Amino acid sequence: MQRLSSQLQQSSTPPELASLIDVIAVACKDIAFRLQQGAMSGILGSAGEENVQGETQKKLDVISNDLLKDYLLSSGTVRALASEEEESIVAGNDKGGYLVAFDPLDGSSNIDINSMVGTIFSIFDAPATDVVSEQDFLQPGRNQAAAGYVLYGPSVMLVLSTGKGVQMYTLDQRIGEFVLTVEKVAIARDTKEFAINMSNQRFWAEPMQSYIADLLAGSDGPRQKNFNMRWVAAMVADVHRILCRGGLFTYPWDNREPDKAGKLRLMYEANPMGMLVEQAGGSAYTDTGPILDVQPEQIHQRVPVILGAANEVAACLGYHTE
Ligand code: F6P
Ligand code: MN
Repeated sequence: MQRLSSQLQQSSTPPELASLIDVIAVACKDIAFRLQQGAMSGILGSAGEENVQGETQKKLDVISNDLLKDYLLSSGTVRALASEEEESIVAGNDKGGYLVAFDPLDGSSNIDINSMVGTIFSIFDAPATDVVSEQDFLQPGRNQAAAGYVLYGPSVMLVLSTGKGVQMYTLDQRIGEFVLTVEKVAIARDTKEFAINMSNQRFWAEPMQSYIADLLAGSDGPRQKNFNMRWVAAMVADVHRILCRGGLFTYPWDNREPDKAGKLRLMYEANPMGMLVEQAGGSAYTDTGPILDVQPEQIHQRVPVILGAANEVAACLGYHTE
């Protein structure tokens, strides 16, 4: 079995990028250990604070954010970082070659029910200038040097792209290393499975209403086939399923908070997942164009997300342009 570090070396990943990915992997092993200790490590429950998004922070949101920050800032490879849990960017090493944006604990409402959560990360080259600002992060996801996530499930898995397809690694607990278990991930173009939070149905815009209604009509409706539905309520786990067995995932705009473009964050969730899905042969769109082409206006920006099987994403977008 090939270890992460030797796979990165073999695929000609620049050494500083390989070292940064290794640091993220180490931080995530630390988070995984604490998750596995559960109630014994005093990490469950609320931290009693709200994050910049106005959501209640779980203790483990805060712990994961602090852990990642500490590992990344002491690695020497990071010029600056942006986190879903931090109001502003945090400056790192002047000589660091990379900018990192991350969601330290995606799906954190799952922690207290011992269900799947994950860490999502997105890596850009650092600018050539000495001074780094939030502006440097505001580039389309197309420029990502690498992206990935660690899924804390029955196995701990690292799923990664450095622009040469998508690889999956599984944490071998006996040796404490991520080893390559899937060399080339490919998403089938067609699917019979979709993922959406159906409880928001009455709040969606008309195109999404019509699209989902046609899926639900199954073999009696215009799609002439029956669709299955899944929703883990952790994007990392729903996207992992799509990378493993196909499907469509969407978190559309809805009119509960009409001024927000959607629920998911461009920099910490949509961009990295968009890169993985495209690198695996799928599609990743907002309701108007590819996620990876969105020019961000601010680091905590939200976007509607429609991603997965290419033909199904195209079918969904068809309702939006009719
Ligand atoms: O980070 C936001 C998030 O937790 C995603 O991981 C997940 O897909 C979504 O929100 C779940 O939303 P809801 O609470 O509407 O099911
Ligand atoms: Mn999240």
